[in-house]
Amino acid sequence: MKNATITALGGYVPTSVLSNEALTKMVDTSEEWIEKRTGIKERRIAEFDQSTSHLAAGAIKDLLQSYDVHPSEIEGVILATATPDSLLAPTAPTVCQLCELDNAFGFDLNSACSGFLYALTMATSMIESGRYKKIIVVGADKMSSIVDYNDRNTCILFGDGAGAVLLEAIESGNGVLNSILRTDGKGTESLLVPGGGSKYPASAESLISGKHYIKQDGSLVFKKAVAAMGSVSRDALTANDFDSEDIDWVIPHQANIRIIKAVSDSLNIPFEKVKVNIEKYGNTTSATIPLCLWDFKEDFKEGQNLLLTAFGAGFTWGATVLTWGVLRPSKSHNYQGNCVEATI
Ligand code: COA
Repeated sequence: MKNATITALGGYVPTSVLSNEALTKMVDTSEEWIEKRTGIKERRIAEFDQSTSHLAAGAIKDLLQSYDVHPSEIEGVILATATPDSLLAPTAPTVCQLCELDNAFGFDLNSACSGFLYALTMATSMIESGRYKKIIVVGADKMSSIVDYNDRNTCILFGDGAGAVLLEAIESGNGVLNSILRTDGKGTESLLVPGGGSKYPASAESLISGKHYIKQDGSLVFKKAVAAMGSVSRDALTANDFDSEDIDWVIPHQANIRIIKAVSDSLNIPFEKVKVNIEKYGNTTSATIPLCLWDFKEDFKEGQNLLLTAFGAGFTWGATVLTWGVLRPSKSHNYQGNCVEATI
């Protein structure tokens, strides 16, 4: 059986920076509080007319421009997002169109902050089945579209961005080894956008009461995230007959530096092996893990084992263990697609 292996990566973040200092002028908070309690120094914010499809297309275009892969080779795009362009139609077809992926199917998958791991697992299974050879998994969220910038409990945490990986069928022993995904619907009310769906359709009342904004019970989510990411990661390691020393790098969901530290402590994995870029981007929901893979790709060497773990609304959580493979060669021909510029 051929393994599903990451062979190319791309990333996109908007150019506008929202600093902690700027947030102190919007809500009752301080730069020190935000940095100390979350690890975040700044986050990127998309332009008003830049929706999630633009962010996702930016990441895919960066991938297509950086590596020797032509759009016609791509068979499918799975877009993990909690902030689609609209409730209906799905956003992935727009992304395919923006990137001229004319041979690709495209669908959206919403599993909030765990979305990228869920999408990666779907794509892995499709490739392992032998039916598909090249699928792009992209995580993209415009969190600024659902954040209330009067609510200091949430507005300090989130940012906008997108990251993409090309998953390919490769015979080498590298690639995704296993994934464990979990859910607990009892957590739904603790982290959600209550309005705008079928339960509370958009109305004048839903707007006035702010139901279209993200709400969360921060300290409960914090505790659940630490326990859940730790336990599912241990299960994923055990399923591979691995222990902590077999892991070269941990790529955790970037929600709070204190959550990340607590998870690495509970796994007995030294913090030097844990990749963190939360200080630059904040929590970009479905995009944190692929943005982190993209940011640190130069550090990963063939044969090294990576542990990816995430927790988010639902609750949903999961862990994936993979062995890093060989990336495609850098771009040799000039693809001039017409999707948004990937200016980083
Ligand atoms: N600035 C200053 N003070 C703030 C604040 C802010 N931005 N946000 C909350 N506070 C205050 C609270 O009102 C509270 O004050 P009180 O003691 O007078 O009531 C105090 O700080 C402590 O609040 P608490 O919620 O216990 O802080 P915390 O240490 O748990 O940090 C979060 C809050 C939101 C940063 C933290 O809980 C968190 O990161 N949770 C996980 C959220 C998450 O990851 N969600 C996304 C999905 S994965």
